[in-house]
Amino acid sequence: MEEIERKLKELQELRKQARMGGGERRIETQHGKGKYTARERIIHLVDEGSFEEFDMFVAQRESDFGLGDQEFLADGVVTGHATIRGRQVAVFSQDFTVFGGSLGEMFAKKICKIMDYAVKVGMPIIGLNDSGGARIQEGVLSLAGYADVFLRNVTASGVVPQISAILGPCAGGAVYSPAITDFTMMVSNTSYMFVTGPKVVKTVTHEDVTTEQLGGAEIHASKSGVAHFITESEDEIFDLIKKLITFIPQNNVEEPPLVSCDDPIDRLEDDLNYIIPGDPNQPYDMKSVIEAVVDHNDFLEVRRRWAPNIICGFARFKGRSTGIIANQPSHLAGVLDNKASRKAAMFIRFCDAFNIPIVTFVDVPGFMPGTIQEYEGIILNGAKLLYAYAEATVPKITIITRKAYGGAYDVMGSKHLRGDLNYAWPMAEIAVMGPRGAVEVLYGHEAKKMTAEEKEKFFNQKEKEYRDKFANPYDAAKLGFIDDVIEPRNSRFRIIRGLESLAGKRELNLPRKHGCIPL
Ligand code: HXC
Repeated sequence: MEEIERKLKELQELRKQARMGGGERRIETQHGKGKYTARERIIHLVDEGSFEEFDMFVAQRESDFGLGDQEFLADGVVTGHATIRGRQVAVFSQDFTVFGGSLGEMFAKKICKIMDYAVKVGMPIIGLNDSGGARIQEGVLSLAGYADVFLRNVTASGVVPQISAILGPCAGGAVYSPAITDFTMMVSNTSYMFVTGPKVVKTVTHEDVTTEQLGGAEIHASKSGVAHFITESEDEIFDLIKKLITFIPQNNVEEPPLVSCDDPIDRLEDDLNYIIPGDPNQPYDMKSVIEAVVDHNDFLEVRRRWAPNIICGFARFKGRSTGIIANQPSHLAGVLDNKASRKAAMFIRFCDAFNIPIVTFVDVPGFMPGTIQEYEGIILNGAKLLYAYAEATVPKITIITRKAYGGAYDVMGSKHLRGDLNYAWPMAEIAVMGPRGAVEVLYGHEAKKMTAEEKEKFFNQKEKEYRDKFANPYDAAKLGFIDDVIEPRNSRFRIIRGLESLAGKRELNLPRKHGCIPL
């Protein structure tokens, strides 16, 4: 009996030791930086009492450079499974209080084990990152450990959703694990990501740059597009993860969760009939169109501050999770440029991988012309978007609200790229290019000898003729490229009807190893 008591006590003691991570002093330092510890983060993220921890007694095996003098049970990363609002998830949470959350051999093995478990069972993987990178004392074992994690990120991609929260430093090659995951979230002022830190930058390029300027949350949300979401606090990140997973399924063979919906499906939005300005060059806010038609006006925007000329995000129609893509006329007239093309292409591929239907709202003047765009590869980037739409086999509904000009008409979920249901509002203009550009090409020669005044009058007349011919959806509707011209206020109802009819859609691409998307 005594022996049993001793063994039970020993277990409790070891658990207590593991839960203390790197010890009280380091926990205080962590709190002093405004950050939670690895374990506190899990508590805030998952359903109360649902966390089942793996590998609490794992410790590092190396002893060089003083490692042998210190043993921290759990080895700097807390791993396990839990539920979030009843849904199973796998979690790893890097513990900065143990060797700065640095990744060594056993640390990596723990992450790999929980990732393998998640893939086997089919549940999302959530990584909470806060790490000084490769554990210096473990040398190449750390590098090998990272590669083992990267490999799993790649093989799990498109199989289970992967979410990365960056809650502290994330530097060096370590950034590539979050980069492969589906969503990366950062906290303003406390998290940063870069391939090399400011000191190396100074040495190599002589550039003076702060940590924040190089890889802070703001930068990755607005300039690089690495961060899909940023928040002001860790608590907000946990709320965001909880919300995000309500839109996505457990894995690629499940459907996204269907929630009950008390928002009337036949809710008419009369304001939408008048949202398109009389002047075709005037902007309007496409977000108000989206919010008007989705359930309870609830729209979760992804990469809000990167390439705002295109909007991507999740919403529901009659409780059914849907990916929304929309040109934004109030930013750069909704033009497709390099970033917008890549942003939408990535989002479409996520939706397609995880059985989430796509609804597209089109108001696009075309692809952005000019040397900047061409030199940055608008040909390849535009092709990515085209490829993503064409390849996607999930239900696809497209509504042209106003302009659909040129190649952008084809690309933005057109019938020709396997759009299932293609609608247009009566204000739609479907043409090879905008009226002024078109008449200048067609009649420029004729107008060469005219005075400026004559030219203006002549072009205005031709522009009117062009508009009368093309500034409507009926030419396309006559050819069956548009299934119906709908009243804007009916859009919600028509989308829901469409999604219901497409619920059983089965479309397959031919078997192949993989396509060669122009990366
Ligand atoms: C081992 C590390 C460590 C590391 C930090 N620590 N980084 N131990 N390996 N990579 C330890 C420190 O010794 C310290 O231990 C504790 O973590 C906290 O670190 P501090 O420096 O006191 O914290 P702070 O001032 O907040 O600075 C955090 C930091 C800094 C910016 C992350 O520690 C730092 O620059 N670390 C090195 C980052 C780095 O260059 N990593 C390698 C990147 S290359 P004590 O015992 O005092 O608590 C890489 C390659 C990956 O990762 C390749 C993948 C393919």
